[in-house]
Amino acid sequence: MSVKLIDRYLSEFISEHEYQNIQPQVSAAHHLLRSKSGVGNDFLGWVTLPEDYDKEEFARIKSAAEQIRKSCDIFIAIGIGGSYLGARAVIEFLKSPNYNNIKKDTPDIYFAGCDISAASISELLEICEGKDICINVISKSGTTTEPAVAFRVFREMLEKKYGKEEAKNRIFVTTDREKGTLKNFADKVGYQTFVVPDDVGGRFSVLTAVGLLPIAVAGIDIDMLMRGARDAQIKYCDEKTENNDAYKYAAIRNILYRKGKTTEILVGYESYSRMMNEWWKQLFGESEGKDGRGIFPASVIFSTDLHSLGQYIQQGMRNLFETVVSVGNSGAVFTVPDDPDNIDGLNFLSGVELDKIKKIAMQGTLLAHVDGGVPNILIELEDRSAYSLGYFIYFMELACAVSGYMLGVNPFNQPGVEAYKKNMFALLGKPGYEDIREQLQKRL
Ligand code: PA5
Repeated sequence: MSVKLIDRYLSEFISEHEYQNIQPQVSAAHHLLRSKSGVGNDFLGWVTLPEDYDKEEFARIKSAAEQIRKSCDIFIAIGIGGSYLGARAVIEFLKSPNYNNIKKDTPDIYFAGCDISAASISELLEICEGKDICINVISKSGTTTEPAVAFRVFREMLEKKYGKEEAKNRIFVTTDREKGTLKNFADKVGYQTFVVPDDVGGRFSVLTAVGLLPIAVAGIDIDMLMRGARDAQIKYCDEKTENNDAYKYAAIRNILYRKGKTTEILVGYESYSRMMNEWWKQLFGESEGKDGRGIFPASVIFSTDLHSLGQYIQQGMRNLFETVVSVGNSGAVFTVPDDPDNIDGLNFLSGVELDKIKKIAMQGTLLAHVDGGVPNILIELEDRSAYSLGYFIYFMELACAVSGYMLGVNPFNQPGVEAYKKNMFALLGKPGYEDIREQLQKRL
């Protein structure tokens, strides 16, 4: 098993009978999900996706990735939220947070359209000077302002550089199968397109073309990623929490939430986990935070954040719990060098592997935080491989859906995100929003 949930550090916070008491609610959520009778049931495509994905498109993703790798120095993935976080998280986790600076035979990858920043767009245009470029614009709705603006900028850059015909071969579009501004535009101009399936929402879409094309461009084995997710899909079918760690995680979260633990901190011990934490925050935050409910998802990277947020976690408000993700074999080995003079007094660590020191730091922190009143869930990932990460992604998606149903919300919509978009469109003067513009302006 590539993902293991350890509940040993929860014994002071959750009693055995509480797991039994919550089982009927887990079973109810399980049945809603599996019978597709719960709210948001038209967005359940991700449940069987690891087995049922479009094989023809998967092959097209691989060949487009190969074409991109051969024809550019820089690949720009344009998207926001679920249309970029998964790809970036997987690339940083499996390759490196310094991916663009490591030795490699794949293009540098930049992400654009995930903010509104003159500084970052100008900087990226400058970085692109004199380089060969391909872009992949990713937007399910095809109307999100941030990526739409970035797409216009980089499309214009490509057309100026290569001419319209050649630019066409360097622009890849991932969007709805048949509708939306972006789809219409892509068909009209003749860009190669990939599909965000109707029944898969943005934050559940990393294992579709949304995530897979950029991930494949980075040279990551997407077959192994899907295989890990598929094995997790097979593994996590049983409704009983004692046989299903994904459901057990959902149950634990709900038990703790009802005891006032309203903030969950996802803890990583490697900087390559930082963007995976961001992906997880979107997955749970957007799925559960509604109707005045939901656990607030936060994240840290230790040891770094032990010297900033560590104090709060140890002794601040006791509404926290932590979920620690520990990655087994990372593939790198490094030992502390010996110094015969021992001026720094560190020779008690000479020859000790950094992974061992990290593990002990983790154990010490876990116990300290538990002593400080912070329940700790431990999730062990077998290794830093595409297979294990695919497994982990599916684990989290499933846990999130079941946890959301247990909370009593629709885990698959995001009405709160639409609220800001509507106001922004109105204030920017987009046609069709005239009626609310005036009211909003009065309040500013
Ligand atoms: O999870 C979601 O649905 C959102 O985060 C979307 O991914 C995000 O808002 C981007 O939307 P779109 O892909 O339509 O541009």
